[in-house]
Amino acid sequence: MIDNYTHENNNIIYVIESIPGPKESSQEYDEIINNFNSQLTDHCLCQQSCLKNECRCLEKLKTTNYVPYIKNKHMSVLNLDNGELSSNIIIECNDLCSCSNECGNRVVQKGPIEGLNIKKCQDEAKGLGLFSECHLPKGMFVCEYAGEVITKSEAIMRHQMNAAQNKMNYILCLQEHSAGNLLQWFVDPSKFGNIGRYINHSCEPNCCIIPVRVNTPIPKLAIFTCSDILPNTEITFDYGSFNNDNISENINRSKCLCNSKNCMEWMPYHVY
Ligand SMILES: C[S@@+](CC[C@H](N)C(=O)[O-])C[C@H]1O[C@@H](n2cnc3c(N)ncnc32)[C@H](O)[C@@H]1O
Ligand SMILES: [Zn+2]
Ligand SMILES: [Zn+2]
Ligand SMILES: [Zn+2]
Repeated sequence: MIDNYTHENNNIIYVIESIPGPKESSQEYDEIINNFNSQLTDHCLCQQSCLKNECRCLEKLKTTNYVPYIKNKHMSVLNLDNGELSSNIIIECNDLCSCSNECGNRVVQKGPIEGLNIKKCQDEAKGLGLFSECHLPKGMFVCEYAGEVITKSEAIMRHQMNAAQNKMNYILCLQEHSAGNLLQWFVDPSKFGNIGRYINHSCEPNCCIIPVRVNTPIPKLAIFTCSDILPNTEITFDYGSFNNDNISENINRSKCLCNSKNCMEWMPYHVY
């Protein structure tokens, strides 16, 4: 993975991928470590690139996860379903696959795109934000939201501490429904994180988060554009879109400063 971004603040440690949170004696923590240490065994035996009909990684899907961008064949975008982002689970080719590094099913694993800048937002209360200096087509991968993968109890504790100390909250809870089970992943990039930690919430976002797996069962929280983005635009996603447990009361919720026409006034609030 190539990721040459850095943090200006020396107290934040740059990690290019998510890492396990601090050691805990709990079954939940052991499961996180087991997941970090396990290798997904499904893989393909393709030579060079993977084609949907021949590749074991794509055969269940019957299509491809990504397609070359029409205007620049060197760029990949999501294989949109009738123009919309599909709800297919994305599994990329991994270290066990024999295809080349140039295979079209390797996108998120290659790291963030170039041309991302961390800048102060116009509204100072929103703090820093992430901006793209380039035009980005719909379906383009931007970067991961990488940080410490922590347990639910650690997430609740950190969330309460942040609220008590009036600190910004960076913890993202991703919920996945798989074979009747609910999987919850808590990622906190506040102290250890990548460039994705600077992405602010918007009620009319231009990006969304899609879980993408490569080598391990731990999903990468991959940020993709959900519309074309003009140069020098702030990258945003909807903090509430991947967790449906929003409460309707406004207790403990912060005012949303996204400035969009359809702003909901309050930031999404998660019940962990
Ligand atoms: C993941 S961080 C985003 C980067 C952050 N702005 C910074 O300066 O590092 C999330 C925090 O940013 C702030 N934030 C993000 N989107 C916001 C919005 N639409 N309105 C107000 N504050 C926002 C909130 O304090 C939130 O807890
Ligand atoms: Zn491949
Ligand atoms: Zn493969
Ligand atoms: Zn808003």
